[in-house]
Amino acid sequence: MTKQRVAFLGAGNMAEAMISGIVESGKFSPEQIIATNRNNQERLNTIKKKYGIEAVTKDQLDFSNITVFILAMKPKDVESALADLKDHLKPDQLLISVLAGISTSYMEENLNERQQVIRVMPNTSSMLGESATAICPGQHVSMDHVLLTKELMKCIGEAYLIDESQMDIFTGIAGSGPAYFYNLMEHMEQAGYEGGLDRELARKIGAQTIRGAAQMMLEQEETPAQLRKKVTSPNGTTAAGLEALAENGGGKAIAEAVKGAASRSKELREELEKVFAEQK
Ligand SMILES: NC(=O)c1ccc[n+]([C@@H]2O[C@H](COP(=O)([O-])OP(=O)(O)OC[C@H]3O[C@@H](n4cnc5c(N)ncnc54)[C@H](OP(=O)(O)O)[C@@H]3O)[C@@H](O)[C@H]2O)c1
Repeated sequence: MTKQRVAFLGAGNMAEAMISGIVESGKFSPEQIIATNRNNQERLNTIKKKYGIEAVTKDQLDFSNITVFILAMKPKDVESALADLKDHLKPDQLLISVLAGISTSYMEENLNERQQVIRVMPNTSSMLGESATAICPGQHVSMDHVLLTKELMKCIGEAYLIDESQMDIFTGIAGSGPAYFYNLMEHMEQAGYEGGLDRELARKIGAQTIRGAAQMMLEQEETPAQLRKKVTSPNGTTAAGLEALAENGGGKAIAEAVKGAASRSKELREELEKVFAEQK
């Protein structure tokens, strides 16, 4: 892995979360990572100092010795970024995009024939190395590049290979999901506070409870339904809690949240596709 060089085209929040995870993982050395942006020199200096990586404006980047480019700008800037890249990219160089709503086919259409592209979708927990990240390879990608992408994404959490047609529902669960649990924790905190606990303590207890339950799920080979049944004695406190939950929408409310977010992801993607089609 020592010779691979990874260049970020974009040095904003998402790029920083990924750079931090990649450098901290120790799997890639800081010398292998380059961050670029359009012109914000102050931001480049900060990133350079913090992670020990190279950081230059996009016009100063030497494209020739890069293995992987990671597109990390806002989706509205993708068209000009691809136009800039097209003349520089070689067939063996990989382009990974983290841009929401930008399909692999859009990238392929706007680059050279048979260009290797992969779309990924990390979530905000990548800052802690706890992202649930989707990986969708384009049509012309080599297996080695899929594996390299998986290795990079595993630096920021867990990575899952999915079909691109599943990206909206993935977004409904993993992209928007952290907010559902923040909302759940808001309510746990409030109920704990109203029940007599210090607010901050109630917040920590709620968060640790969610973390513990998620850990049980991930480490034990049991389904959530099996785990739920195991901790629910007839007529006990958990049964009473679950009954009250069901009376107020229960877990089904979360299923509806996932579907609602997935449907909005589809709408936003279609709006973006319309804008790009009109620009042609
Ligand atoms: N935040 C999340 O949780 C999350 C999750 C999944 C995916 N994403 C995706 O991540 C992407 C980036 O989001 P962000 O919040 O990190 O944005 P951001 O903080 O606004 O950063 C955007 C960066 O892109 C740079 N840039 C723009 N055009 C460029 C170009 N042609 N070449 C090189 N750099 C260029 C900007 O440079 P200047 O400052 O010099 O203009 C800036 O450094 C978005 O497309 C979003 O869909 C975000």
